[in-house]
Amino acid sequence: MAFETIIVDIEDSVALITLNRPDALNALNSKLLGELGEAVRDASRNDKVRCIVITGSDKAFAAGADIGEMSERSFVDMFSNDYMGEQVRNLLACRKPIIAAVAGYALGGGCELAMMCDFIIAADTAKFGQPEINLGVVAGIGGSQRLTRFVGKSKSMDMHLTGRFMDAEEAERSGLVSRVVPAKKLKEEALACAAKIAEKSQIATMAVKEAVNRSYETTLSEGILFERRLFHALFATEDQKEGMAAFLEKREAQFRDK
Ligand code: HXC
Repeated sequence: MAFETIIVDIEDSVALITLNRPDALNALNSKLLGELGEAVRDASRNDKVRCIVITGSDKAFAAGADIGEMSERSFVDMFSNDYMGEQVRNLLACRKPIIAAVAGYALGGGCELAMMCDFIIAADTAKFGQPEINLGVVAGIGGSQRLTRFVGKSKSMDMHLTGRFMDAEEAERSGLVSRVVPAKKLKEEALACAAKIAEKSQIATMAVKEAVNRSYETTLSEGILFERRLFHALFATEDQKEGMAAFLEKREAQFRDK
């Protein structure tokens, strides 16, 4: 499938999706988010793909939703069409792990897109922010909710109210990103991480996603019960037998997603 605003490379078991609107610092217009959703849906359905990496350019992961596209729209237009609601649904529905590999600006919708992924690997050049306040609006695809859960109320309020940017070091310290790597190594590190995940049992990686994501949606005791039931359920899989036998026999496990 040929896309105009993204590039998709599938190598071995990893799909690398590169946002590609360099003239606009990968600003997220409807076309780009629509294509991204389609690419993620395609990767979800492609049995060869076991992990997905979403990245941008050296200068920008994405500098936010496309201000030019939005500026003249009316409330009725935004509300009736549920602006950007549908486009992100494919991404959120994906059961395979998605890593955001972020260099440069991840602002507004760009920061929100990174947070929709399962985790973020940042280059040391990364800058995160929710600067919608400077445009007279608020975050629109999850920023006020996800950033608050990731970094806590005080820092989230600070980011949303002042519109300031957070550098990679602060983002790692605050729990927004899982690791920071030198910019030159970002793609290599993200792909290596994705390849490592791709070696696991896909049933187990899907269960991990469900369990961790459930922690944002439910109480502690319900979440722990959900996790325990998933843990029990995985004993019905061949991959559990293989994984434990391989450990005991001191060899590499050969998972078959069964
Ligand atoms: C449209 C954008 C853009 C954006 C950058 N560009 N960000 N176009 N929407 N969000 C365009 C610029 O207009 C410019 O085009 C080109 O990209 C390069 O940008 P410059 O500003 O010249 O680069 P620089 O001086 O290096 O500054 C980089 C920057 C700045 C700090 C990232 O571009 C910036 O502040 N951008 C806006 C960030 C922002 O407010 N994001 C939140 C958007 S609202 P030309 O043609 O002039 O060369 C949002 C809500 C989400 O995300 C809700 C989801 C529905």
